[in-house]
Amino acid sequence: MPIAVGDLLPDVTLLRITAEQPEPIELRAYSAGRRVVLFAVPGAFTPTCSARHLPGFLTHAVQLRERGVAAIACVAVNDPHVLKAWAAHEGVDNRIDLLSDGAAIFTGAIGLELDLSARFFGVRSRRYAAIVDDGRLTYLGVEPGTEVGVSSVDAVLERLG
Ligand code: BEZ
Repeated sequence: MPIAVGDLLPDVTLLRITAEQPEPIELRAYSAGRRVVLFAVPGAFTPTCSARHLPGFLTHAVQLRERGVAAIACVAVNDPHVLKAWAAHEGVDNRIDLLSDGAAIFTGAIGLELDLSARFFGVRSRRYAAIVDDGRLTYLGVEPGTEVGVSSVDAVLERLG
């Protein structure tokens, strides 16, 4: 069953992309005692993820922080090398934490896998956005397909008020 509003994030490790070596992030500790916006993309460098989804959060990172968001994180079922190249390509700097879930362990644990085998991708993440307060989901918008609607930065900002 997919994760839902009111649920705690699972206690899993993801790899945060940095300018040096990727850094292991314990998700429970990362989200404890603060507000985090977490969004996920089906894949780095894919058209909608690169042209709309990630750029929306980059452009509005300041507005999110003004609404009490301590960290913005983007999860993808991609290996850390791909995510590092994507971060550089998109000029992410330190505005968003790119978190690699290369083996889809986190994505599987929250039940939000997207099987794109027919499109030669393999198993990836559904596109979604979540507001996480002290480790617990207070908003979750999961897209039915690969388009950006309820997982957009506008939907998150609207929810934050
Ligand atoms: C995209 O445009 O972001 C996309 C395209 C195909 C599969 C997944 C994502």
